Amino acid sequence: MKPIYLDHAASTPVDPWVLKAMLPFFTTKYGNPRSVHAMGREAHDVVEDARKRIAGILHAAPEEIIFTSGGTESVSLAIKGVAMAKGRGHLITSSIEHPAVLETCKYLETKGFSVTYIPVDRYGLVSAKAVEKAIRRDTILITIMYANNEIGTIEPIAALGRLTRARGILFHTDACQAGSLELDVRKLKVDLLTLNGSKIHAPKGVGVLYRKLGVELIPLFHGGGQEFGVRGGTVNVPGIVGMAKALELVQKNKDKENARLRQLGDYFIGKILKSIPRTTLNGHPTQRLPNNVHISFAGVDAEALLHHLSAQGIYVSMGSACSAQEIQMSPVLKAIRLPKAKGLSSLRFSLGKETRKEELEKVVKVLQMVVESLRKVAR
Ligand SMILES: Cc1ncc(COP(=O)(O)O)c(C=O)c1O
Repeated sequence: MKPIYLDHAASTPVDPWVLKAMLPFFTTKYGNPRSVHAMGREAHDVVEDARKRIAGILHAAPEEIIFTSGGTESVSLAIKGVAMAKGRGHLITSSIEHPAVLETCKYLETKGFSVTYIPVDRYGLVSAKAVEKAIRRDTILITIMYANNEIGTIEPIAALGRLTRARGILFHTDACQAGSLELDVRKLKVDLLTLNGSKIHAPKGVGVLYRKLGVELIPLFHGGGQEFGVRGGTVNVPGIVGMAKALELVQKNKDKENARLRQLGDYFIGKILKSIPRTTLNGHPTQRLPNNVHISFAGVDAEALLHHLSAQGIYVSMGSACSAQEIQMSPVLKAIRLPKAKGLSSLRFSLGKETRKEELEKVVKVLQMVVESLRKVAR
């Protein structure tokens, strides 16, 4: 049986058009953009072309686009970069950020910065009012994710952007899961925005940080002065070419594809909730990524369910992580105050552009059988 891949929030296949665009830059056009000969110029020009095209999509200037190795690096550069440039101060983030953000904030706390972690409601929404209340005179940066990677909740970034801009505080959003949403930085009023390639059908190992002109960042890597002096190191030419192509494709098709995914996702959610007893949807009912379906199957061990599905060629993710022999509920599910039993019985299904209705029908059938048998064993 052809595998049914429902883990697009973790990784996506590289689009054939993206791969085609990238290939010559591995094999024949392999110059270093810093070399002054013709092959170097060619590599330089292709990187600058990619930068321009990405800037166009973001409604930014090309000099505001910094290429990195992925989401974690962009997030780190944004948060640590601002913090190190300011030297001290207070940061605001939410309790449901990706570890790339949370661990960076925790690290900064060990270096004398203070951080407020804003709690979210039971749907995973950050309230602009709560953020406003947390602002202090020494607040240097607010960092709130655009869309959550586990439960898919979409945060009110434009509202937060208006608030932070009015208060003159820098605002970063981690948009790694939001490549198919509105990315106009003027509308969002963000000063820093992180994107990564592997979630939008570009390869792993490439990312973007949008940095508004004038925002000072201390580099994570010092080196040859590449990327406007904030990210030393030879740039990943094929990855950058792929990133630009992938972002163009995903943004060009977003209205149609998001509507298709929304319909498919709603169909899938409805089918599960109706045909499998004691199932509930986590995350926001409407303010959610169109491809995200996060379900609790009461009385079922999510890990066992995941392995049973995997054995049948159905690939999904779990909202919990193993740590020190004990299965722990993920911090995101804790933050939305999901009871532990429910959290440990939850799976994330993330749909993608190859997902078809027939596949979801098959998954529901398998789920019905496996959930029933696992519940029998647990009794
Ligand atoms: C919301 C979010 N931020 C950051 C990252 C980190 O990206 P990367 O793994 O490319 O470094 C991810 C990856 O899953 C993510 O989903």
